[in-house]
Amino acid sequence: MRQFLYDIIAIMTIIVEKVKKMRVVLIPGDGIGKEIADSVKKVAEVLKCDIEWMEYEAGAEYFEKSGKLMQDGLLDKIEEVKVALKGPTATPIGKGFRSINVYLRQRFNTYANIRPVSNMKGLKGRYKNVDLIVIRENSEDLYKGVEYMYDENTAHGVKIISRDASDRIIRYAFEYACKNNRKKVTCVHKANIMKMTDGLFLDEFNKIKEEYPDIESNDVIIDALCMKLVTDPTVFDVLVAPNLYGDIISDLCAGLVGGLGFAPSANIGDEVRIYEAVHGSAPDIAGQNKANPTAILLAFAMLLNDNGMEDKADILKKTINDIIAEGKYATADMGGSSSTDEYTRVLMERISNETV
Ligand code: NAI
Repeated sequence: MRQFLYDIIAIMTIIVEKVKKMRVVLIPGDGIGKEIADSVKKVAEVLKCDIEWMEYEAGAEYFEKSGKLMQDGLLDKIEEVKVALKGPTATPIGKGFRSINVYLRQRFNTYANIRPVSNMKGLKGRYKNVDLIVIRENSEDLYKGVEYMYDENTAHGVKIISRDASDRIIRYAFEYACKNNRKKVTCVHKANIMKMTDGLFLDEFNKIKEEYPDIESNDVIIDALCMKLVTDPTVFDVLVAPNLYGDIISDLCAGLVGGLGFAPSANIGDEVRIYEAVHGSAPDIAGQNKANPTAILLAFAMLLNDNGMEDKADILKKTINDIIAEGKYATADMGGSSSTDEYTRVLMERISNETV
């Protein structure tokens, strides 16, 4: 009898776990952040994702009103929940506080930044058949923020490239290629000039590639890569890069397929995952109902996909693709006149039709 009761309790626990809502920390952030985060919440509702959003303020606007960069409890909540969706947070240029994005990536050791780039039908792009994955090292390089004034007229910035972090990201890139049926991994560097730092990164790449004989591999110097990307991006597949180069080439790649409004990203660690759009807070259009929420919605699709909701991720991506291909409800950055609200409303209607 006692065993029977134990079994019942165990079954009930499993059922409760299954029906428990997934909790996601949501940081709307600055500028257009609130508008695009609002779009995600509405879309999640019609997708019936059953997500409990744990919303926290962070960023320049919060700093202005509170003197703090983020709301108390945010870090603990990310630690506990492990999954976050983040809007853009603004960072003052050349002065002021350091980037919250960089802080969160380093604090939670989300060492891999995954940025998929591909054509969407209906978007103006110079090339067809672009299908790239930029895998950016997310924890070190010049982003460590080691900068100081050597003397009154000379500033130094220290580029930190470690064997461990290089090994981890390069291995991640090859594993990603294997799991996602990708054929080739290209290492991005400037080891001809930075012989120690980029030299070490390339050296690790050359060692690790030997463990993956089925994946084609090569390396390209960053400046040559930029030229090749704008002349023929289709020759690349997975690009693995140290932090700063990864940042620059992912914006370049976004430009190849229609702009920043369509570029999602995921910051992946062993414990925590933070999903976000590649773009920033777009202060020039903030508060005007003009923002294109596609990038953060695609980042949300990555979140759903990684958390066992592949079917919902597919519906979301397909519906976005259909609306963009149709071209009728394009936001200003796509050359149209739809507002964020109108685009979101149409997306919600179409998803409702798909899911009923
Ligand atoms: P940005 O990405 O905010 O804007 C660049 C251009 O793209 C602007 O003309 C903007 O209107 C447009 N744009 C960006 N996202 C858009 C969207 N969803 N829909 C329509 N148009 C869009 O880059 P910017 O101006 O260099 O940076 C502004 C602020 O954002 C800075 O404080 C920067 O530090 C921060 N930033 C934050 C990031 C993050 O939180 N992950 C990433 C990049 C920048």
